[in-house]
Amino acid sequence: MSVERLAELLVERQPCVVLTGAGISTESGIPDFRSPTGIWRQFDPAEVATIDAFLANPEKVWEFYGARLGLLADVEPNDGHRTLADLEARGLVLAVVTQNVDGLHRKAGTREIVEVHGSLANAVCLEDGTRVPADEVELPVPRCPRCGSVLKPGVVMFGEYLPEEALEKARRLARDAGLLLVVGSSLEVYPIAALPEETLAFGGAVAIVNRGSTSWDGQAEVVVDAGAGETLRRLAELVA
Ligand code: APR
Repeated sequence: MSVERLAELLVERQPCVVLTGAGISTESGIPDFRSPTGIWRQFDPAEVATIDAFLANPEKVWEFYGARLGLLADVEPNDGHRTLADLEARGLVLAVVTQNVDGLHRKAGTREIVEVHGSLANAVCLEDGTRVPADEVELPVPRCPRCGSVLKPGVVMFGEYLPEEALEKARRLARDAGLLLVVGSSLEVYPIAALPEETLAFGGAVAIVNRGSTSWDGQAEVVVDAGAGETLRRLAELVA
């Protein structure tokens, strides 16, 4: 019943903007963060994912992100990513705002992507802004080819501001959305967790596809507590 209602919303409440989190990539073999098998059950984010941890101990932070880079080299988009690219091509999805840094939406063919937490595709120099593609960084601690400073993974770490342009674009998309479709996010990390508020405040509707509850479920028109891939595949069939 709820996927059928989601299909009606998708058609009736255009434009649809999709907000994805780590839950859309677990079916590609990439662990999420806060589910029982999530990354933050094995690692303390305070030790490996904050800007202070990076500045204090870049080796330890690169050990964590180096392992994630290695994982990304072999993963492929799954049905969830591919279906969103298909829905965009059919004019039913305007853009994908993603908290993920794995590049799988781009790999699946989505064109309009807003990476609000950066990307593992590059490492960056905090001193001179040099960007080095991930496959060229030399672990265990990559250094800037221009100034020799230790490079930082190109992701937003806790304690850092989100890229201003991406954040503003995500907020604008959420405000203008007739439907904000959240897929695979616990909606626990701000400021992105506040995007549903932008949509609701401007008269749009929110729908959530997520295994497990979120704090926005009560304000969503539809909540589908099921797998992202299977749900999005079913959704695409219903709006065909
Ligand atoms: N289908 C649907 N939902 C899923 C699936 C799946 N196959 N796999 C996992 N989920 C759900 C989990 O149950 C969880 O509720 O996806 C959600 C993922 O939530 P988080 O692990 O908190 O990931 P996310 O919301 O993306 O985290 C936001 O936190 O640590 C930071 O920077 C990191 O971008 C990340 C941010």
